[in-house]
Amino acid sequence: MRIGILTGGGDCPGLNAVIRAVVRKGEGVYGHNVVGFRHGWRGVLEGETVELTVSSTRGLLHRGGTILGTSRTNPYKTEGGVAAALDTLEREHIDALIAIGGEDTLGVAAKLGTEGINVVGVPKTIDNDLSATDVTFGFDTAVQVAVDAIDRLHTTAESHDRVMVCEVMGRHAGWIALYSGLAGGADVILIPEVPFDIDEVCRRITHRHGQGEAFSIVVVAEGAVPMAGTMATQSGELDDFGHVRLGGIGTMLAPEIEARTGYETRVTILGHVLRGGTPTAFDRILATRFGLEAVDATHEGDYGKMVALRGPDVVRVPIDDAVRELKTVPESLMQSASVFFG
Ligand code: F6P
Repeated sequence: MRIGILTGGGDCPGLNAVIRAVVRKGEGVYGHNVVGFRHGWRGVLEGETVELTVSSTRGLLHRGGTILGTSRTNPYKTEGGVAAALDTLEREHIDALIAIGGEDTLGVAAKLGTEGINVVGVPKTIDNDLSATDVTFGFDTAVQVAVDAIDRLHTTAESHDRVMVCEVMGRHAGWIALYSGLAGGADVILIPEVPFDIDEVCRRITHRHGQGEAFSIVVVAEGAVPMAGTMATQSGELDDFGHVRLGGIGTMLAPEIEARTGYETRVTILGHVLRGGTPTAFDRILATRFGLEAVDATHEGDYGKMVALRGPDVVRVPIDDAVRELKTVPESLMQSASVFFG
């Protein structure tokens, strides 16, 4: 077989570990050829390929990012994109395509499946917002990077008697904010699932300081939104998949807190730092297990599936499930975490 592989959407730690596992088993055990497409669906549209072999994919396990490159190109939003993609796959004699991505990349893979392309999906995203899998690789690393940063903000906040606002990524799901905030001992955590009331945020901080503390840590998800009419915000541009570019809520929040409480308040936006660098051991192992299962599914001709973690097992689920529903933080989880706030 000739197996194509691509990484699409935002990069995340663990992508290279998937590529390595697919090649190691695909070529090393099954004797298949593996060819990488550069920059996600853009490489499929433009026919930009790179041959992948066991020897060319050595030393990748710990490397962040993706050796294939990535993009947010959507063939269904590009004129002639689908025809160009189908042409390339035929010209390259691709028998099956392994697409590694989030809801957007996997959504395109699912649609191409209906055009007769043999696809297998591998879920990735630091946001952990895919409902078909218990967890995505990249999330654990992002949380750990955020916790390390929050620990550091803690010591400087304490020295200067400041309120520190730390903004983290996560798009419209608050998983990174909630997990890093809980692990980092934040005093306030703001997530997109629960619109916040700026007066309540300030009340909690003031109450805490009234109890003798002189600093506070606020973790805010980039997608967090104030309750209607309580605070001004801005909106950004849309990408090829119609997603708004987020980021900046922390910058708006910090002066509001300072003005309303009188406590000196600073902001740190972690942004893409959460996506870079080496994956944690957990993410390396999950990514490796996903890669091995994806190549098994491909070898067995079990197409239209996405690999997923369910409890301790890596299983195969219909690829459509990946895009059916966004996995957001349940209210009950946020409720139990709130005992630590303020
Ligand atoms: O989906 C992953 C993610 O890092 C989100 O948390 C964030 O909103 C977005 O990607 C940023 O994307 P870009 O790489 O286009 O800045």
